[in-house]
Amino acid sequence: MPAFSVITFGCQMNSHDSERLSEVLTGAGYWATEKLEEADVVLLNTCSVREKAEQKLRSEVGRLGLLKRERPGLLIGVAGCVAQQEGERLIKTLPQIDIVIGPDNIAELPTLLARAEAGSPPQVRTEFDLDAPEFLQARPEAGKVMPSAFVTVMKGCDERCSYCVVPYTRGPERYRPSREILDEIERLVLAGVKEVTLLGQTVNSYRDPSGSLPAAPPSALEFRQAPHLRANEAESEFPALLHAIARQVPGLLRLRYTSPHPRHLTARLISAHTEIPILAKHVHMPVQSGSDRLLKKMIRRYSAEEYLERITALRDSVPGMTLSTDVIVGFPGETLEDFQATLELVEKVGFVGLFGFKYSPRPHTPSLKLEDDVPEPEKARRLAELFDVVERARIAHLTSLIGTTQQVLVEGLNQRGGYTGRTERNEIVHFWATTSPVGEVCEVRILRAFKNSLAAELVEPTRHLPWQDQKTKAQLRALPVM
Ligand code: 5AD
Ligand code: SF4
Repeated sequence: MPAFSVITFGCQMNSHDSERLSEVLTGAGYWATEKLEEADVVLLNTCSVREKAEQKLRSEVGRLGLLKRERPGLLIGVAGCVAQQEGERLIKTLPQIDIVIGPDNIAELPTLLARAEAGSPPQVRTEFDLDAPEFLQARPEAGKVMPSAFVTVMKGCDERCSYCVVPYTRGPERYRPSREILDEIERLVLAGVKEVTLLGQTVNSYRDPSGSLPAAPPSALEFRQAPHLRANEAESEFPALLHAIARQVPGLLRLRYTSPHPRHLTARLISAHTEIPILAKHVHMPVQSGSDRLLKKMIRRYSAEEYLERITALRDSVPGMTLSTDVIVGFPGETLEDFQATLELVEKVGFVGLFGFKYSPRPHTPSLKLEDDVPEPEKARRLAELFDVVERARIAHLTSLIGTTQQVLVEGLNQRGGYTGRTERNEIVHFWATTSPVGEVCEVRILRAFKNSLAAELVEPTRHLPWQDQKTKAQLRALPVM
């Protein structure tokens, strides 16, 4: 039986795609290995959001090319965003590659591999499934403890932020029917999953193509800044989806989503956070910049004031809610004043996490026409300043948790032989236990705060939950996997 290895670059969406790639291949009789020297097929699942990931692909293909010289039968496949973006060009510039496959063509991989094994010339498949969008279903592995899982609710992006290549590499927005989403979550929960993260490029723009979701309850919230923000209650059915999940999958303990767009942070979504107890008390809401001038150039379709009003309403609606964000520094024309506005916004909100990126010009994006005029060392300086502000806020927040008790979903062992898990907000917690609590929710008391995590002691492991009994396991086996 042939063996395969997947190397993943980039975001959670890509990691999720890598799992689907692996499932498609194991379904076709391949087996997974992490050792490149025993693999017959190596797949590079790529990201092209920022420049470095693309450079990494090129050096990785070079490295694999050396391996291929020793073992000419080795097949090299490139999947993900760089595959979609570069298509044919990749096999011309990197002749070591046998297969280039876009995110919407994953299911075709076994056929392409069979052809390549039979000696076919390099093949490229990068068609978007616009007419009949397909969402590959996760297949929970029997006997494997998986406390947390991702579920895709939409793919593609219609936003067209001027710096971003994603609308080009992932195509227009396509939504998954709500019934499919609910079925997948039910199946995961029966397999022992306690926490689900809903995935999508602009996850909160979700609309149900089957039109079968009951509307979310109306919200009493009103925004002062609303007229300018193109977020319209009728636009998104995301709050309705959250309500349906909470209602129909009672065994689910935690529900998260990533990544939302601020313009779909509607009153109903904010209210959903107060109405649905399993919704995590942490939201990652990319802001990108605090300068209106730049937000306009970035085509983000909100002002700093509008963002601030909504994010503050969200934070105030749920006591203890924490927030994180994405920021780009050094966008073309970013002055010190613009950057100052970003710093001020970040300080004002009190984000406890920030993914900061130096602007990098991407192919097929409108901002490519603008001069990348902020020097690299200045971009690095701005980034460091932002990280500093957020680190201080995070340390203060983590310190404020000392002495409190928290519910921790245990994910696995840490490097020191203890256990590690996450609170409902997402703080990482380390603690010791005599028997393995992996996959369970434990109550812990916080003892110490570090820069990025917490140390705690076990108060009392939560009793075993009903889906761990044999009856529900038998029920799971009876469910067909689509
Ligand atoms: N340059 C730098 N950062 C970018 N991002 C997207 N495109 C670019 C780019 N061209 C960042 C944004 C986005 C995150 C996933 O990547 O902050 O939210
Ligand atoms: Fe890119 Fe903007 Fe879409 Fe996010 S919302 S994926 S930044 S175009």
